[in-house]
Amino acid sequence: MSKTHKQSAGAGHGKRDSFSSSLGMLAATLGSAVGLGNIWKFPSMTGSNGGATFLFVYLACTIVVGLPVMISEIMLGRTVKANAITTFKKLSPRRQPWGLVGVAGVIAAFLILCFYTEVAGWVFAYIFKGLTGTVLTTDPQVASAAFGKLISSPMQSLVWQWIVLVTISFIVTFGVSKGIEKVTTKLMPILFCLLVIVGIRSLTLPGASAGLKFLFTPDFSKITGTVILMAMGLAFFKLSIGMGTMMTYGSYFRDDQNVPMTATKVMLADLVVSLLAGIAIFPAVFAYGFDVTAGPSLLFVTIPAVFASMPFGSVFVVIFFVLAAIASTGAMLSLFEVPVAYLCEARQMSRKGAVLTTALGVTILGAPAALSNSLTANVTVFGKTFFDLFDYISSNLIMPTGGLCICLFTGWVFGREKIKKQLSNNNVLHNKAIITVFTLLVKYVTPILVGMVLLNMLNVF
Ligand code: PHE
Repeated sequence: MSKTHKQSAGAGHGKRDSFSSSLGMLAATLGSAVGLGNIWKFPSMTGSNGGATFLFVYLACTIVVGLPVMISEIMLGRTVKANAITTFKKLSPRRQPWGLVGVAGVIAAFLILCFYTEVAGWVFAYIFKGLTGTVLTTDPQVASAAFGKLISSPMQSLVWQWIVLVTISFIVTFGVSKGIEKVTTKLMPILFCLLVIVGIRSLTLPGASAGLKFLFTPDFSKITGTVILMAMGLAFFKLSIGMGTMMTYGSYFRDDQNVPMTATKVMLADLVVSLLAGIAIFPAVFAYGFDVTAGPSLLFVTIPAVFASMPFGSVFVVIFFVLAAIASTGAMLSLFEVPVAYLCEARQMSRKGAVLTTALGVTILGAPAALSNSLTANVTVFGKTFFDLFDYISSNLIMPTGGLCICLFTGWVFGREKIKKQLSNNNVLHNKAIITVFTLLVKYVTPILVGMVLLNMLNVF
């Protein structure tokens, strides 16, 4: 990478950090995409929305909507080499308010962190409880009571969230290459191995085939507007797009990286992880006759109960939650980096100061979300607890709207010439067809589809 690029875009403190190797870049980006979305949201939403039908819609959303947005973000970030807000500001014509998309992104990162750190806290707690044997029961009611006890204790909810925040802050303080990249490069292979182990265990149980059938046989009559909105929201959440995370990570990409190829690899690998998580969960749930539509508690009630029914159950419970903790760590690192990069570059803070400010912000704003099953359980806004509200605003409002704006910006403001230059790495790569299809998607297809889903949500149709 050229020196000028490294120092460009108002980086507040000297040389700008970047991913040091292709493998590290891939691990960090995949680490951002893979997370509780695969292990907690994907199975519970698939389970509650008809299995394979939901999976089919989700797949379509990932390819037609998710991939173009992800490529756009990485490309824009790499062009300017700055945080999301500065990237938009630098690229947008005078007096056009595109910077607001970046601002919405930083807000979304905060909102997601508020509830995400709480779920990650439960995961951390379950590793500990798995090791001490306190969550091992084959009775779903006892499992449910154990989970209820954890989430309804204000002290436990807050403390586990803080433990997560301290862990993530510690890693992010070391920077992009020495912190985020180093950690995710080590964790990602472990995650894959653990998933395969649990998947094989689940598939070899008697009666497992019903779970596979549930996951892979669609019933198209079940597709509704709500299913599409939810699947699209999940696609955005899963690929960490529509709110500046991929843009921020893209700003750490080297200029010789093949952006469309990297984005496609990340999308496919993320899909594989989701499917592996589904394969690890559904066959086991069916084999032991548990309820697949258990929603978010699928992870914390059904899974421990299912694994406890197996030989060496406690080992599998711990493995499962360790892999969930690994997955959530990579995602939280990337969420943190969005405000941290902004605070360092545009507000001239030191990295430590920016991390502390972010962690403090999440501690304060995250507390009402963490207490949503105890002290703030009765405080609702639009009928939703803080936890659900933060999730809804980020996944179903900011991310799809942000994705829509990012596509329009890429297609109509950034424009074909610059897209061509960026995606071909200055005519080094011969990917004309990819560029043509991509331009068509971001200019017309993706914005129209996302726009329709959003209008449908507002009951316009
Ligand atoms: N993609 C992450 C997951 O699946 C969540 C995430 C969303 C991370 C947005 C960063 C930004 O868990």
